[in-house]
Amino acid sequence: MRHVIAIDGPAASGKSTVSRQLARRLGFVYVNSGTMYRAITWEVLRQGANAHAPEEVAAALARADVTCGFDADNESFIHINKKAPGAALRDSQVNDHVSLVSAVPEVRRVVCDRLRLLARDRDVVMEGRDIGSIVFPGTPFKFYLDASPEIRRRRRAAEGQSDAIDARDKMDATRKAAPLKIAGDARVVDTSHLTLEGVVDAILGILRPLGIPSQ
Ligand code: CDP
Ligand code: CDP
Repeated sequence: MRHVIAIDGPAASGKSTVSRQLARRLGFVYVNSGTMYRAITWEVLRQGANAHAPEEVAAALARADVTCGFDADNESFIHINKKAPGAALRDSQVNDHVSLVSAVPEVRRVVCDRLRLLARDRDVVMEGRDIGSIVFPGTPFKFYLDASPEIRRRRRAAEGQSDAIDARDKMDATRKAAPLKIAGDARVVDTSHLTLEGVVDAILGILRPLGIPSQ
């Protein structure tokens, strides 16, 4: 039986940096589910589909070849029509439309299937919005990272990104399909005043007595 550590939370709560470091400390692979929603959004926009029209989004997705896997360094990847979208995933166009695209049920179904396949043969730390609630509801290892809106806004701005995280969080939390929420059995970690190492140590401290030792 493989282990899945689910790390959910709003934008800039620290999911990516914490999950990557946690995976390293545990010897697990790291999977960023947001990258998949971003890659599909990039492709939908590239095809000129209207992100506000769910049927256009679904049709664009159906025309695309979406492949996920792990490279030789155990880094997860997503290819659209055999190509990696790369730095374009953080474009402001993608930031502005990803919540619309990821609210479309067909998109969620495709990504959810791929995520479950990625975790079939490996121990993973997987981050996103619905990993503990929908993708792996049965995992006993669920964390919800949070931080105050002001601190999260400051963190994203410090990265030099144009990213309206309040609007994105609101849309992610209020959509019908797999909204951002705290799974009933998730442990909430407030990262507002913790360093990256502080968050990772707090999570490792919870996992150790549950039989997940760090290396
Ligand atoms: O890194 P950041 O928190 O800014 O966002 P991300 O993890 O790259 O996710 C980008 C967007 O993808 C989110 O705002 C959600 O709309 C969507 N997403 C989702 O719907 N479900 C997930 N499991 C992960 C991301
Ligand atoms: O993946 P998510 O959008 O949740 O957040 P992130 O990209 O991991 O973190 C956003 C920014 O906050 C990064 O520049 C991190 O280095 C920083 N961060 C922090 O200052 N303190 C923490 N405890 C966690 C992350």
